[in-house]
Amino acid sequence: MLKNDLLIRALQRQPVARTPVWMMRQAGRYLPEYRKVREKAGDFLSLCMNPELACEVTMQPLDRYRFDAAILFSDILTIPHAMGLGLHFVEGEGPKFHHPIKTSSDIKALPTPDPEQELGYVCDAVRLIHKTLDSRVPLIGFSGSPWTLACYMVEGGSSKDFRKVKGLLYEQPQLMEQLLSKLTTAVTAYLNAQIAAGVEVVMVFDTWGGVLSSEDYQKFSLNYTSQIAHDLRQDIPSVLFTKGGGQWLESMADAGFDGLGLDWTTSIASARARVGDRVALQGNMDPMALYAPPELIEQRVQRVLQEFGEGSGHVFNLGHGILPDVNPQHVEVMVEAVHKYSRQYHC
Ligand code: CP3
Repeated sequence: MLKNDLLIRALQRQPVARTPVWMMRQAGRYLPEYRKVREKAGDFLSLCMNPELACEVTMQPLDRYRFDAAILFSDILTIPHAMGLGLHFVEGEGPKFHHPIKTSSDIKALPTPDPEQELGYVCDAVRLIHKTLDSRVPLIGFSGSPWTLACYMVEGGSSKDFRKVKGLLYEQPQLMEQLLSKLTTAVTAYLNAQIAAGVEVVMVFDTWGGVLSSEDYQKFSLNYTSQIAHDLRQDIPSVLFTKGGGQWLESMADAGFDGLGLDWTTSIASARARVGDRVALQGNMDPMALYAPPELIEQRVQRVLQEFGEGSGHVFNLGHGILPDVNPQHVEVMVEAVHKYSRQYHC
C-alpha cells in the first residue's frame, strides 16, 4: 500500500485532498547534487547503467521537494541502444547514434531486446528504487513512443526538420510501418518488464508526435501508442505525453491511456472541456516560467490550478522538462504553491 497515492488517485479521477505534483526531468542538471553524481559516474549513459547511482539520483529531488512521485532515472534511448545502434552523448549536441538506420536491411536486422537481458540494468534500477522508496510515493516508469524513437534512430540524433525520418515515411511508408511495429513490440515488452519490476505508473513520451500532419499522427504515432496502452500487462495508470499534440486531444483521449500530458501551448481549461471525464490531465506550466521571480511563479501555478478548476483528474507538472540552468529554489516555490493553493479545488 502506497503511503502517498495522490498521483494514482488523480490519474483515476478519484477524489484527492490536493493536486499531486511532480516535474519532468526532476532529477537532472539543475541540481548540484545530480551534477556531482554524474561526475562520479563519468557520463550520463554510465549513470543510467549503474542501478545504485540511478537510484541515488532518482531520490535526490524527493529529498529536496515535496513531490508526489518519483520517476525512474533513465532515458528513452535505452531501447535503440539495446538494439545495437550505439548511443552516445556529445556535450552540447545531445544524443547521437554510431549506427543510425539507413536501409531496409537495417530495419529487418533489428533485434527485439529482451528487457531482462540487454535492458536488465533498467529493471535492476526499478527494483532498487522501488525498494528504496518503501512505498513513500509511486514510481513512474517510461518509454519513448515508437514514432519518437524512430525519429532518433533514423536521424541519428536530434533534428531540426526531421527530413530523413519524414522522407522515409513519405517514400517508403510500408518500411516505416515495419520499423514502428518492431518498436511497438520492444516498447510493450520493456514497459511490461518495468511493471513486473515495480513501477506503479507508466508514461509514454511522444516528444516528436507534434511534427506530423494530423492524418500521419493518427497513422504513424497514435495507432502504435494505443496498441501499447492496450497491451500493458497490468491495469496500472498510464499517461501519454505528446508534445505539440494539443489539437488531437479528442483522439488521444480514446487511445486507452488514463491520463494525457499537456505541453504549455494548450489551455488546460479548454483541454478539460474537450476531453471531459474520459481522461485525467497532466501539466502544463511553461518550463520557462521557472525563470520568473518567485511571486510570478506563484501566480502562474495559481493560474494553471484555476484553469483546471474544481475536482480531481489533474496532476500538476511542467509542459516539458525543466531546463538545466533553472534556480533550484524556484522549483521549491512551484511545489509549495501547488501544496498551498490546490486544496481549495478539492473537497
Ligand atoms: O524526467 C526525469 O527526471 C526522468 C529521466 C529522463 C531523462 N530523459 C533523463 C535525462 C526522462 C524521462 C527522459 C526522457 C527523454 N530522453 C526524452 C523524452 C522527454 C522529453 O524531454 O521530451 C527524450 C526526447 C530524451 C532524449 C534525450 N536524452 C535528450 C534530447 C537529452 C538532452 C541532451 C542534452 O544535452 O540536453 C537527453 C539527456 C538526458 N536525459 C539528461 C537527463 C537528466 C541530461 C543528461 C546529462 O547531461 O546529465
